[in-house]
Amino acid sequence: MPRLLAALLFTSLTIPSSTAAPTANKSCDTIDDGYRCSPKTSHFWGQYSLWFSVPSDIDVDPPEHCDVSFASVLSRHGGRDPTMSKTLLYGATVGLIQNTTTSYPDEFAFLKDYKYNLGADLLTDAGRQEMVNSGAHFYRRYKDFLKGKEPFVRSSGQARVVESANKWLEGYAQAARKETGAIDVSIPEAAGVNNTLSHENCASFEDGPLSEIGDNAQDIWVAKFVPPIQSRINGKLGTNLSTTEIIYLMDLCPFTTLASPTARISDFCHLFTEDEWHQYDYYQSLGKWYGYGNGNPLGPTQGIGYVSELLARLTEKPVQAVGSINSTLDTDPASFPLDRKVYADFSHDNDMTAVLAALGLYNNTTPLSNTTIETAKQTKGYSAAWTVPFAARIYVEKLSCKKVKEEYVRIIVNDRVQPLDFCGGDRYGRCKLSKFVESQSFTRTGGHWDQCLNAS
Ligand SMILES: *[C@@H]1O[C@H](CO)[C@@H](O)[C@H](O)[C@H]1NC(C)=O
Ligand SMILES: *[C@@H]1O[C@H](CO)[C@@H](O)[C@H](O)[C@H]1NC(C)=O
Ligand SMILES: *[C@@H]1O[C@H](CO)[C@@H](O)[C@H](O)[C@H]1NC(C)=O
Ligand SMILES: *[C@@H]1O[C@H](CO)[C@@H](O)[C@H](O)[C@H]1NC(C)=O
Ligand SMILES: *[C@@H]1O[C@H](CO)[C@@H](O)[C@H](O)[C@H]1NC(C)=O
Ligand SMILES: *[C@@H]1O[C@H](CO)[C@@H](O)[C@H](O)[C@H]1NC(C)=O
Ligand SMILES: *[C@@H]1O[C@H](CO)[C@@H](O)[C@H](O)[C@H]1NC(C)=O
Repeated sequence: MPRLLAALLFTSLTIPSSTAAPTANKSCDTIDDGYRCSPKTSHFWGQYSLWFSVPSDIDVDPPEHCDVSFASVLSRHGGRDPTMSKTLLYGATVGLIQNTTTSYPDEFAFLKDYKYNLGADLLTDAGRQEMVNSGAHFYRRYKDFLKGKEPFVRSSGQARVVESANKWLEGYAQAARKETGAIDVSIPEAAGVNNTLSHENCASFEDGPLSEIGDNAQDIWVAKFVPPIQSRINGKLGTNLSTTEIIYLMDLCPFTTLASPTARISDFCHLFTEDEWHQYDYYQSLGKWYGYGNGNPLGPTQGIGYVSELLARLTEKPVQAVGSINSTLDTDPASFPLDRKVYADFSHDNDMTAVLAALGLYNNTTPLSNTTIETAKQTKGYSAAWTVPFAARIYVEKLSCKKVKEEYVRIIVNDRVQPLDFCGGDRYGRCKLSKFVESQSFTRTGGHWDQCLNAS
């Protein structure tokens, strides 16, 4: 064979992928690091951010001489289309622009022929891939420990959550090279159902003044940060978009990005500056903090049911019934076993925000102000993008370490190790199990659930 031909064949046989798939089509999402395209803006989309590995001050690898002895994950569903009510509003906003604009200058040019065609409520292909990646991410982290064990899996009942659990199982199985497992328990989301993965049963939290604190905090901030953006956009397009419609236009960046199978950054994202995305992230963080987190008098209380279940699993002791735990489910080993070592639960951003608050993880965070901007870094690791992006994952692990009889607990939120200073967390972020349980008195004493009964 002529040398040149051999060389050509050799070349095409060894590096086919680099020629077949141009980098422009490569997904921005990876198993280890999550979403990595344009991080200076894409990591500031609040809870609409695609999952990314959050930087950790503490090494995320278990310390030397320690072995994992328990692993659990509480996961948000993957990236989705807008909810039904929002998809109609977003479509109308695009329609309004197209009906009233006088010109489409510069970065707005794409809007001229843009056709709004987003669906509603369900995962997108990019969101499904996030969950497949998440299952593989969990498997890779706990690989050695997971040999011979199966996760016990529960899902809240909404379609996108159930599908997320199944996609996670698929990614887990692919990484483990075995058959895909199944969801063990799915808990319906409906009024009157006790579901620790979906809030609904605390009337005084769901309705009345407490249900408006989040929106009110956001409104105050909107009145500050949106007007300059509004003037710029209306000035360019010749439109008269309201502050709310400007927010919708910003929301369209993550949602149209998620509509691309490879999650290619959408043209909507280029309509706003880096600073504006930081302000938007703060807007979304305010909604979570005051709506479901420490900023809401009954926010943390919504998370106590799940935390109580977590304590039961960590200590292998019967569940203490608090909040909206379903005792029928949680006293039955078929639906709530205590002797398993690997657990996976699937839920929503608001519920996870309440669980993080019940755990007390952000008790030392300076309360978010509704009048001045603070970035994620300035608020000690709290932002909606760092805590509950699409496909968010809270890992709780136990470590068994040489020469120490008692096990340790660590909590890892989206790859960021939490310091657990409230139970004597050491430089590895570890607390002794008994100290951790002790620290969770808020849950063990039922939070403020008594105030839930005083529903108006
Ligand atoms: C890459 O993307 C372009 C435009 O999005 C598309 O036309 C093309 O078919 C894609 N190529 C591959 C190999 O997927
Ligand atoms: C835009 O104009 C079309 C045609 O006149 C009309 O059907 C539609 O309702 C308008 N949409 C909005 C959002 O104003
Ligand atoms: C508790 O769970 C059982 C078993 O799934 C179910 O039949 C019952 O309706 C649930 N009760 C509440 C209040 O959620
Ligand atoms: C916003 O902050 C101001 C000043 O701290 C406070 O008085 C007000 O109650 C806050 N509003 C909300 C909705 O949290
Ligand atoms: C722009 O909209 C506001 C309400 O959002 C309205 O009060 C105002 O009159 C409108 N301006 C024009 C020029 O249409
Ligand atoms: C459901 O939760 C309520 C508290 O909201 C509790 O009183 C009730 O006993 C729970 N039901 C079950 C089946 O555990
Ligand atoms: C967090 O703060 C709440 C309210 O002050 C308190 O009840 C709870 O015990 C704290 N949690 C931890 C883990 O310190």
